[in-house]
Amino acid sequence: AALWCVVPAAGRGTRMGADCPKQYLPLNGRPLITHTLERLAAHPRIAGLMVVLGAGDGHWPGTAALHGKPVRTAFGGAERSDSVLAGLHALPAEVDDADFVLVHDAARPCVREADIARLIEQAAQVDGGLLGAPLRDTLKRAGEGGRSMATEPRDQRWRAFTPQMFRRGELVAALRAVSRDGRAVSDEAMAMELAGFRPLLVEGAEDNIKVTTAADLALAEFLLARTA
Ligand code: CTP
Ligand code: MG
Repeated sequence: AALWCVVPAAGRGTRMGADCPKQYLPLNGRPLITHTLERLAAHPRIAGLMVVLGAGDGHWPGTAALHGKPVRTAFGGAERSDSVLAGLHALPAEVDDADFVLVHDAARPCVREADIARLIEQAAQVDGGLLGAPLRDTLKRAGEGGRSMATEPRDQRWRAFTPQMFRRGELVAALRAVSRDGRAVSDEAMAMELAGFRPLLVEGAEDNIKVTTAADLALAEFLLARTA
């Protein structure tokens, strides 16, 4: 079965506050999203990419193939889950509902090949999973006036990254249920948890950062060279 990767890239980058969505800002002279797509397309296990663009996106470079693999596009929606659903629906007929699909943020250009490979191998043994890393810092619950109200337990707390990998049909059903119930989810794994699944947490490198603010751009340029 062909393993495709849906790449949500329909966000507006409000926290970055740049003139264009953050996925199109230059990193080492090329658009951020190009680095992300290159890395995914270069992966031997990935058969094709489905990039989900924002309506009226005037920055998409029109990439149709990378490393000999098809790059298709679809249009996303207001929430990330809407964008992922649109991408899942637009996948080519070679992808069955029982096939696994990857979902990877356009804004994570530093993902490592070895981590993608480990996720694919381990999550396919169960009902799917995601890259992440155990929390390293002490976690505080903030209250009024910026005071620390309590210290939250750190054990068994993980940060969630992408890629995330699930069976296409099960992920579509989980995301539809979320949207029907008017619930917001911050990643695919949360939709799957709400549907009763228990996604496998696969530990990945912490340098798989989600570029969010201006400071992350310089860090991503540095990490791109180290994580190649
Ligand atoms: N995304 C999407 N559709 C949306 C919202 C987000 O496809 N409606 C994508 C973004 O383009 C990004 C990924 O989901 O690649 C992770 O989202 P995030 O880092 O929050 O990006 P933005 O929503 O663009 O940034 P911000 O929240 O600061 O506006
Ligand atoms: Mg966002």
